Amino acid sequence: MTPPVTQPTANNLDAYFMPFTANRQFKKNPRLLAKAKGVHYWTPEGRRIIDGTAGLWCVNAGHGREEIKAAIARQLEEMDYAPSFQMGHPKSFEIAARHAAMLPGDLNHAFYCNSGSEAVDSALKIALAWQRARGQGTRTRLIGRERGYHGVGFGGISVGGMANNRKQWGVMLPGVDHLPHTHLPAKNAFSRGQPEHGVELADELERIVALHDASTIAAVIVEPCAGSTGYLPPPKGYLQRLRQICDKHGILLIFDEVITGFGRLGASFAAEFFGVIPDLMTVAKGISNATVPMGGVFVRKHVYDGLMNGPENVVELFHGYTYSAHPLACAAAGAVLDIYKDEGLFQRAADLSSYWEDGVHSLKSAPGVIDIRNLGLAAGIDMEGRKDAAGARGYEAFVKAFEMGLMVRQTADTLALSPPLIVEKGHIDEIIEITGKAIKAAA
Ligand SMILES: Cc1ncc(COP(=O)(O)O)c(C=O)c1O
Repeated sequence: MTPPVTQPTANNLDAYFMPFTANRQFKKNPRLLAKAKGVHYWTPEGRRIIDGTAGLWCVNAGHGREEIKAAIARQLEEMDYAPSFQMGHPKSFEIAARHAAMLPGDLNHAFYCNSGSEAVDSALKIALAWQRARGQGTRTRLIGRERGYHGVGFGGISVGGMANNRKQWGVMLPGVDHLPHTHLPAKNAFSRGQPEHGVELADELERIVALHDASTIAAVIVEPCAGSTGYLPPPKGYLQRLRQICDKHGILLIFDEVITGFGRLGASFAAEFFGVIPDLMTVAKGISNATVPMGGVFVRKHVYDGLMNGPENVVELFHGYTYSAHPLACAAAGAVLDIYKDEGLFQRAADLSSYWEDGVHSLKSAPGVIDIRNLGLAAGIDMEGRKDAAGARGYEAFVKAFEMGLMVRQTADTLALSPPLIVEKGHIDEIIEITGKAIKAAA
């Protein structure tokens, strides 16, 4: 493949204020990606990088899909944009009906936005509005979980549980509490699939209810598999227990499926995989294969119906985005669903998951590896950190992997892997081999 013409120089890297990046460090030694196809990226110099992370957990159907390109181009030709307030366009209704048809249980309404962060803030607002609409307006508390990541809006960082994402922003939303995280390496290290221990951590919700009273709590939000602190699948029975406690106390349960949605676990959604239906579900990323930004909140019938009250001429939810259900995003999302279905990609992820599991757990003997977790086509690998330099080893392993031709995600001294669902066994072998070498090189 020929490299692109534009070769960035040190000079023109300065203006861009990069997100979630050590700007000065990066600009001294940039890692640039210029082309992508299938399970690969290419740097501007033409070096091939295997994509071990589906971009940022989002390019589930692989890069450069012709069908998606064509659908976006057709839509652009037909109509670039239509207002989303008090107006509609056919593709938004079409895609909502398709999503409703593939969702488990009676999750059968879709609200759209442009990112996972917006999806989370939208879901929290829908939960509060619903409690108020049913006469329970005192329920204003939101419960998140330690080590949770729910994007970067003020709602999302408030319920989120990662200190670095919270410490710069003061008090955030008031009235938020957190469940304990479920990472128990002393009991669960090197679990294959869901860990055995930790179901009792869901009972902490009872403690929180006892402290604040159920009449003050609107919703609980968790990622079925927490992604951003290194992939933490839920202990066996944990999500079921959370569901029971929420039901008992009239609390809405929100699953943030921004990374688990659209096939990552080998099922359409984690809700289906675990057999636990949340009241609201947030999605983004794989919804459009990351071609056009898109997010969504899927809502159960009783929540939607509960908001459809009052006079018909009154707006039921004073919330929305200029680009809600953007025509290009809807066109992309439709083409992506066709690919998922025609190529059986969710089943493919399920079929590959035991090969993947064996592969990632083969890294147990790599130097300084202290835990490995996996479920579906994703994994987290914890390395022992260096004394007085938390995260240094993880960063070095990430950089080494990139130099050796693999993209991994790094958070502190943990590496996360989540390849596109089109990955072949040979690619998995390559991902595992380079990850092992990078871990060794950073030892
Ligand atoms: C579980 C979860 N929720 C929300 C988000 C935020 O999504 P976005 O970056 O599209 O705003 C992410 C992003 O990684 C995520 O993993």
